[in-house]
Amino acid sequence: MKIKSIAARRIWDSRGRPTVEVEITNEDGTSGIGIAPAGASRGTREAVELRDGGERFKGLDVQAALRGIDGEIAPLLIGHDVTDQAGIDTALAVLDGTQLKSRLGGNALIATSLAVLHAAAAHARLPLWRYLAQDLPQGQSPKLPLPQIQIFGGGAHAGRRVDVQDFMVIATGATSFAEAMEMTAEVYRAAGELMAARGALAGIADEGGWWPSFTRNEDALDTLVAAIERAGYTPGHEVSIALDIASSEFGKDGRYRLALENQELDSEGLFDMLVGWTERYPIVSIEDPLAEDDEAGLVAFTRAVGHKVQVVGDDYLVTNAQRVKDAAAKGACNCVLIKPNQAGTVTETLLALRTAQSLGYSTIVSARSGETEDVAIVHLSTGWNAGQLKVGSFARSERMAKWNEGIRLETRPGAPAGFWGKAALAGKR
Ligand code: PGA
Ligand code: ZN
Repeated sequence: MKIKSIAARRIWDSRGRPTVEVEITNEDGTSGIGIAPAGASRGTREAVELRDGGERFKGLDVQAALRGIDGEIAPLLIGHDVTDQAGIDTALAVLDGTQLKSRLGGNALIATSLAVLHAAAAHARLPLWRYLAQDLPQGQSPKLPLPQIQIFGGGAHAGRRVDVQDFMVIATGATSFAEAMEMTAEVYRAAGELMAARGALAGIADEGGWWPSFTRNEDALDTLVAAIERAGYTPGHEVSIALDIASSEFGKDGRYRLALENQELDSEGLFDMLVGWTERYPIVSIEDPLAEDDEAGLVAFTRAVGHKVQVVGDDYLVTNAQRVKDAAAKGACNCVLIKPNQAGTVTETLLALRTAQSLGYSTIVSARSGETEDVAIVHLSTGWNAGQLKVGSFARSERMAKWNEGIRLETRPGAPAGFWGKAALAGKR
């Protein structure tokens, strides 16, 4: 089926910032929409967003990205077979011509690439997850992912009020996606009540988590454990903790500056602190424990706790198949965070995911801190059988749209084969 037309427009994300939407219409009248999300704590090697700079909207406007779609991408794709995702994505990368997709912009490219995918699924008259599941490796049938859900937001998402970016829970005792939502709803509410009672509630962070005013990072962990208990669950059994340290945000060249506790740690100091946390708290997953430039630290950390804790590479691996291969050769991390806009195209995203799986890594498909009502990643994580899904907290509609979509996928006739549950986690306790 040939692509008939491409429309690009500026829409607005969950932080009220401009972003790129692309709508592709096929010759049979079916169509698909792709939207670029936006990160706040970005890896240095991820695809670069094209932003206009200047005064307007703090330099974040995307007019140049839209012009590139209208002027260069549309002429290339119109008339092309919409089902040839790999061919189109390769053509997009070649057209851009830069290593980090900085000329046309990773935002323009991922919105286009996702629009192609949606349009192809619409042409096939299939829900996106089912369209993708047709290409699963032999013997695999798609299952709903295990969710990682933020309770407190910190780091770049909450004015750096706490150093750690995401304090999350994983409902390790849940036997369905809907049950994981139910359990998280109770913990999220209990955490809010506990914080309000302590006068520690400062609002809502960028991804919908409570914006805490703690005095120590460990206060957040203690409160999280108390919230799990208050909600009626046993920490470490029914509900466990996951963290995104996002340490590249406060660490570089082996020095880590923890603003909240006013201390500076070297790589070993941060390593010791985090290993200590894994011993004292029911933590099952830690993302970016050491900075993206601290590969030796990541290898050592994985060696120390990887047998029992999932060690996730986000800023370090940036959804890049080659970087995943290099990390595997060194033994860094045992899980890869998969963010389509870090790669810049759907095909490169899938390649990173399949490479990770073939090397024994677990995978988490993830949203960004700047999101929209778009629910594509729920379908990607299900249809690609990624095992896990991370989209932020349990509030704000750009987040709830995605969790609710998971419930829809699970309960509609012809639903995926089941729910991954805690089997999706690397590093079993
Ligand atoms: P970001 O944060 O979208 O702001 O990069 C998400 C994450 O670090 O996982
Ligand atoms: Zn992260």
